[in-house]
Amino acid sequence: MKGIILAGGAGTRLYPLTLVTSKQLLPVYNKPMIFYPLSTLMLARIREILIISTPEDTPRIRQLLGDGSHLGLQLSYAIQEKPEGLAQAFTLGREFISSDPCAMILGDNIFYGNGLGAKLAEAKQSAENGKATIFGYYVEDPERFGIMEFQRINEGGRAQYQVLSVEEKPKEPKSNYAIVGLYFYPAGVSDMAAQVRPSARGELEITTLNDMYLQQGLLNAQLLGRGFTWMDAGTFDSLRKATNFVCMLEQYQGMSISAPEEIAFRYGWIDESKLAESVKKYGKSPYGEHLQAVLENKIIL
Ligand code: G1P
Repeated sequence: MKGIILAGGAGTRLYPLTLVTSKQLLPVYNKPMIFYPLSTLMLARIREILIISTPEDTPRIRQLLGDGSHLGLQLSYAIQEKPEGLAQAFTLGREFISSDPCAMILGDNIFYGNGLGAKLAEAKQSAENGKATIFGYYVEDPERFGIMEFQRINEGGRAQYQVLSVEEKPKEPKSNYAIVGLYFYPAGVSDMAAQVRPSARGELEITTLNDMYLQQGLLNAQLLGRGFTWMDAGTFDSLRKATNFVCMLEQYQGMSISAPEEIAFRYGWIDESKLAESVKKYGKSPYGEHLQAVLENKIIL
C-alpha cells in the first residue's frame, strides 16, 4: 500500500502568510502542519509516501523531511505545476503508485482520535480487496465540503454505512456529513483518475473520482463519530482552531500528539540510536523533550 500527501495549492486563503512559504509548513501549535497528515498515514502503517507540492514549496518540504530514513520511511517528491484538482494526484503519482492500492491525505487535514489506527487498517484491507473508502464527519457548514448521502444498515449487528450519493460543495446538501480529505483506493486508481473530466469550477474533483467508484459499487464509507476530531487547517479560523485544539490536548495530556519519530519507534521502524539522533536534532524544544521521554521509556503508549 502506497500513500500520497497532497500539499499543493497557493494557500491564497492564508495570504499574506503563505506568500513566501508553504501552507503545510505553517505551525499548528508546535509542529509544522505536515507532521499531522504524515502521522496519519504512518498510523495506517504506510511507509512508502509521495509528497506532491508546488515547484516553490517542494524543496522546502524536502528540506524538512528528507528521504524519510530517520522515520523508517521512503519519502519521494513530485511537483504539481498548477493546482488543477485533487484527483490529479493519482495521475502525477502514476509511476510511484505502480500496481498498488494507494491512500491519499490532504496536507492540511488533521485527524485525532483513539482507535483511528483500527479504522485505517479496515480501509487499507478494503483497498487491498478492491474497494475504495471515504470517511464522513459531521459538520455544520456542509456547503463547504464534499458531502456524502448514506444510509445505515446493520450487518451482523455491526453498523455499516451505504453511500447513496457524493456531491462536491452542494448548494442544497443531502446530509451534514463531509467527506474528509483522506481516501483509500484499490489498485488501478491512476487509470480511473485519468478518466475524470474537469468540473464546472475547472477542477479534477476527487468527488468525481469517488462517484466513479460508487457507480461501480466499489465505494465503502466509514464514519468518524464524536470520539474523533477532524479539521482542515486551510483558513485563518480553522488554523487557529487547530492550534488551540492541539495546544489544549498536549497541555491536558502532558505529551505530544502526531510525532512521526515516536510512531516510527513504536512500530519498530527505527531503533533507539536513530531516535536518539532525532532527540539531538530537536534539542531543548518541547518536541525534542517529548522524544527524549519516549527514548527513556517514560512514555509507554
Ligand atoms: C476538498 C475536497 C472536498 C473535501 C475537502 C476536505 O475541498 O474537494 O471534497 O471535503 O477538501 O478538506 P477544498 O479544500 O479543495 O475546498
